[in-house]
Amino acid sequence: MSKNATVITYGCQMNVNESAKIRTIMEDLGYNITEKIEESDMVFLNTCTVREGAATKIYGKLGELKKARDARGTKIIITGCFAQEQGKKLLQKFPCIDIIMGNQNISKIPEALEKIEKVQEVIKAGKLRDKKLKHVVLTGYDDELPPRIDADFNNDITASMTIGYGCNNFCTYCIVPYVRGREKYIPMEELINQAKEYVKKGYKEIMLLAQNVNSYGKGLSEGETFANLLQGIADIEGDFLIRFISPHPRDFTDDVIDVIARNPKIARSVHVPLQSGSTKILNDMNRGYTKEQYLELVDKLKSRIPDVALSTDIIVGFPGETEENFKDTLDVVKKAKYDTAFMFMYSIRTGTKAGEMEEQIEEEVKKDRLQRLISLQTEMSNEVSKEYYGKIERVLVEGASRKNKDMLSSRTSSNKVVLFKGDPSLKGQFVNIKINQCKTWTLYGEVVD
Ligand code: 5AD
Ligand code: SF4
Repeated sequence: MSKNATVITYGCQMNVNESAKIRTIMEDLGYNITEKIEESDMVFLNTCTVREGAATKIYGKLGELKKARDARGTKIIITGCFAQEQGKKLLQKFPCIDIIMGNQNISKIPEALEKIEKVQEVIKAGKLRDKKLKHVVLTGYDDELPPRIDADFNNDITASMTIGYGCNNFCTYCIVPYVRGREKYIPMEELINQAKEYVKKGYKEIMLLAQNVNSYGKGLSEGETFANLLQGIADIEGDFLIRFISPHPRDFTDDVIDVIARNPKIARSVHVPLQSGSTKILNDMNRGYTKEQYLELVDKLKSRIPDVALSTDIIVGFPGETEENFKDTLDVVKKAKYDTAFMFMYSIRTGTKAGEMEEQIEEEVKKDRLQRLISLQTEMSNEVSKEYYGKIERVLVEGASRKNKDMLSSRTSSNKVVLFKGDPSLKGQFVNIKINQCKTWTLYGEVVD
């Protein structure tokens, strides 16, 4: 009888990509992939730990999985950043977990499954003396690149490609460098060949992933730079778009801006994580740029790539943030005119520098600032949206809209969602749409030739 496996994903695009790899490994082992936990023999929980709140969600889900395990013996495997961070500690709270596995160990899934099966045979036979053996914990990592796993993606339009692992920046609020280790990058030729494969298979969008994409090339040979990588992929024949996340504003060199400007295949949407608009706070965050340098970068991006849309990440309530400092953030938000922003209240991550700082900000103040920031950004997003009225946009069709089944959902090169009426066979194609209605987060339009 065939076996089923489920992969549940929390967190960023990197986790989405790693979940695709886990699915591929499980399929190669002969498992069917299902979303139904109640039919699953093996459930992977691919976790995130970047902000508080992630843990609460994971604990809730683990409670649910424990019931499945008690009822049917479903195995529980926890992977991802939270697994890496917590390691064995998780077993104290949840002895029901069978395998704990860090980010760099997913290629060892077959080995881990074999081990756990052997252990459980021993348990069944009543021969287990060493209680610790009941679980498998694999959270080690080294300086080598993890083995390459070519994933078949669920979505047949976008292929995501990890170009590098880890982060060397140590922004003082961030746990990522502790759980994902130091930066290492995949050689350019390998990446360009992989991208060629994806284009040949018919993918219409290539998403490049790394914690800090524009540090690409550290440790590789001269000439293996992010700008050259982008150009190399843009040179592949075919009609497709290239996206990338996340760049670091400090490392956004002119050669990268020029390559984007020259190549319409590179999406007109750039993520420029601000984090704070105050030079004092940016310094305390160890971000490596000032408010003025950031705004210069924004100006440069907008003037050299006239149709570019910007998005950002912002944290409010970092330790020591005064009302004055927060106003600097609001000021940048007004000036930069982002299409979208991901906005967060600062949360302490154990082991980081900011976690130790005195002057932590009260919850109420953080909440208030977040609300004010969200309402300003909503106004800005609304303004940006209105600028699309009457324009003709080339969009990539993703399929039926989830909310409105009669409509197709698509995205512009600038990453705006556009809904329109059209034949479902347009899925995966580029079409021209005339925009005739602009809501804050969604545009509407009709097909034009
Ligand atoms: N508290 C709040 N937000 C955080 N981020 C990272 N660490 C923290 C933290 N401790 C946010 C940053 C980052 C995004 C992925 O998550 O804005 O860019
Ligand atoms: Fe975290 Fe900063 Fe690295 Fe991004 S660049 S992963 S925010 S340490």
